Amino acid sequence: MNSFKPSDYQEAAAYLKSKIPFQPEVFIILGSGLGFLADELEEAIAIPYGEIPHFKVSTAPGHKGRLVAGKLSGKYVLAMQGRIHLYEGNTPESTAFPVRVASLLGAKSAIITAATGGVNTNYSVGDLTLLSDHINFTHTSPMVGFDVSDFDVRFFDMSSTYDKSYRALAKTVGSEKGIALHEGVYFYMPGPQYETPAEIRAIRTLGGDVVGMSVVHEAVMARRCDMRILGVALVTNMAAGILDQPLSEQEVLDEGQKAAKKFSELIRAFVEKM
Ligand code: HPA
Repeated sequence: MNSFKPSDYQEAAAYLKSKIPFQPEVFIILGSGLGFLADELEEAIAIPYGEIPHFKVSTAPGHKGRLVAGKLSGKYVLAMQGRIHLYEGNTPESTAFPVRVASLLGAKSAIITAATGGVNTNYSVGDLTLLSDHINFTHTSPMVGFDVSDFDVRFFDMSSTYDKSYRALAKTVGSEKGIALHEGVYFYMPGPQYETPAEIRAIRTLGGDVVGMSVVHEAVMARRCDMRILGVALVTNMAAGILDQPLSEQEVLDEGQKAAKKFSELIRAFVEKM
């Protein structure tokens, strides 16, 4: 249930405006093991979440928990170095709070990235997937209880959540750089436990290609704020039951590091051309 007032978002945005001397064009959310990209920004200004009014802090491993504003490929961006998850005990509204704040700061686009388990058996560990859509299996929304007067309508369209032309551009960039990209559906599970093999079989039947514990609430809020979204998932492990081995948190972080070069190349070239 939404507990934020419109003034809470304004307060957080005003605080960030006082710290950041430019308007970010692109908001980037960096998933588990992918936070390194924020360290590559020029003219960087880092602000810990704990300093920002109404922000929750990150407690997940591999999530530094700070906003980094700076320049990437010649454009001003705002990056979340670590995100805020439901499984940390946060509400859907808290997980999506930074997205609306970034929109108030002027960001018109969001690049939402995540570590995921590969459900589609044609995928392999280390592959990158552009998100074509998502399935929300948490059955919650950051918009529940939102003050309708704060937005124009309550019911809003989600039929093209992940921008088609952004996906096409990312594919072009991928082929120029020799980076193979799948296109697939993100399946949102609440976590924090990984899924069971039976759950993964069900997810496959329901149409999921990759599974993870984030992305969707952020994407819902970004669409509500009329932001265009590119979703990028790294397959850090094959989902439960596909390989005869247990899943581990360390594997997720290690794969992020291994994919660092191609992930960074893809995002940099995409931001340059968007
Ligand atoms: N399941 C859910 N979330 C994940 C996984 C997974 O297998 N891998 C990385 N994040």
